[in-house]
Amino acid sequence: MSAEREHQWWQKGVIYQIYPRSFQDANGDGVGDLRGILSRLDYVQWLGVDAVWLSPIYPSPMADFGYDISDYCSIDPLFGSLDDFDELVRQVHRCGMKLVLDFVPNHSSSEHPWFKESRRSRDNPKRHWYIWRDPAPGGGPPNNWLSQFGGAAWEFDDATGQYYYHAFLKQQPDLNWRNPQLREAMLNVLRFWLDRGVDGFRVDVIWHIVKDDEFRNNDPDPDYHPGLAPHRQLLATYNTDRPEVHQVIEKMRDVLNEYDHRMMVGEVYLPVERLVTYYGGEGEGVHLPFNFQLIELPWHARIIADAIEKYEGLLPPHGWPNWVLGNHDNPRIATRIGAAQARVAAMLLLTLRGTPTLYYGDELGMHNVPIPPDRVQDPFEKNVPGLGLGRDPERTPMPWNDQAHAGFSAAAPWLPIGEDAHSRNVEAMRADSTSILALYRRLLELRRQESALHIGSYAAVPAHENLLAFRRRKGDSLFLVALNFGHEPAVLDVTGRAPCGKIVLSTHLDHEQEVFDCRLELRADEGVIVRLDS
Ligand code: GLC
Repeated sequence: MSAEREHQWWQKGVIYQIYPRSFQDANGDGVGDLRGILSRLDYVQWLGVDAVWLSPIYPSPMADFGYDISDYCSIDPLFGSLDDFDELVRQVHRCGMKLVLDFVPNHSSSEHPWFKESRRSRDNPKRHWYIWRDPAPGGGPPNNWLSQFGGAAWEFDDATGQYYYHAFLKQQPDLNWRNPQLREAMLNVLRFWLDRGVDGFRVDVIWHIVKDDEFRNNDPDPDYHPGLAPHRQLLATYNTDRPEVHQVIEKMRDVLNEYDHRMMVGEVYLPVERLVTYYGGEGEGVHLPFNFQLIELPWHARIIADAIEKYEGLLPPHGWPNWVLGNHDNPRIATRIGAAQARVAAMLLLTLRGTPTLYYGDELGMHNVPIPPDRVQDPFEKNVPGLGLGRDPERTPMPWNDQAHAGFSAAAPWLPIGEDAHSRNVEAMRADSTSILALYRRLLELRRQESALHIGSYAAVPAHENLLAFRRRKGDSLFLVALNFGHEPAVLDVTGRAPCGKIVLSTHLDHEQEVFDCRLELRADEGVIVRLDS
């Protein structure tokens, strides 16, 4: 077997996240759906990504827009039917791509039949499928744990006189993974979708799944300050990242291992030292614990350079890296760092070692869309208003063209469309050979063509101030990537440290074929990829 064939699709490929409510509406109700996604697969294929991850499409009361699931083995009619889903699997595969579903194992909806049973009586067979506790001595919640979406994480249920735990909304009761029956039922959910042909799962809040068996109180976080989400007042020592979570992940991995070439990417917001523990032992952990450092760190070349170095150094021998610039829970990258740097970020994401995940619309340079108060949808913003925590701005409809509702829907969409959609849309940007969309496509193409860029080794190249530089190598094929995080021109001098070569791509989409001879003059906000003579 050649070295290249040893790499799996999820190592070589690029994942594209679609937020189904906002990609394309086919049935004219203002909310995206599976038929809509089907109708836009040609675009996804043209863009040049390898796998599509769909945020939840299961039946849901939509208290948290699908992350509150009332049936794990079906499709919400809002999005379509199981037939539509099967068709989507077929078409994604026909296009040579993979399909990754969101798996939400930490909590169900309070409308799930399991929870309805569970809350019925203390001796109901499903009682311990959820986490029920007596009130504290003297009354009140069993401990001080806080909900991520504001307030206490415990809800009192009159019918049985106990509290249930919910890490998120009270409409999202946490499942009890210490219960073998619940565990088996959830593992069978994975099998249900794997049997239908899905290629993998993005596992929601995986570091939350197991809680302290003694339900100890969390300590205050000395670094908390008002302006942060209220739950950050406490360290999440006892309600997240418990050692036993790895046994649960192993069980999930065992199920995936029953099938060929499937993968799991886990959502984990933890310091990188803890993050890498989610790789587990070889064949035991998640294939990719999401690495959110590019989302979380200040956009500064030195800080990012150090973070790459540290992350690379902490990976276990079997751990494949991955990088993320944006998702449905965080501000758009273009809003955070500006339009010019968003192009540099694109080059960074697609040239670093490891699997990139690209959030729909970032390839258009979409910005956060301001949401008028009367159009707020996100429960996080509703519960904890005014801190800018709401996630609606990064979930707005994909602009396809300059027609009504940006070609997203025949009806008024569920969230407003960006006011720049008349020019920032797929049709217009496909016609513009200098657009950020054109850049993404070129980067994806180059990454696919060059094994050095998708599976090659990584080596940092010393650089100063606003510059970040590194080399990627596979066999004789060698590339230098140099990125100017600054708004002023800058020079990278690698005399004696790199051979000559030719620029193959600039974020400005000109400059190509220019000879590089040890000194690289980067324009403001410019990144370049240089093919070095080996
Ligand atoms: C994850 C999802 C987020 C959701 C939360 C609760 O963080 O990405 O959108 O609200 O889990 O399920």
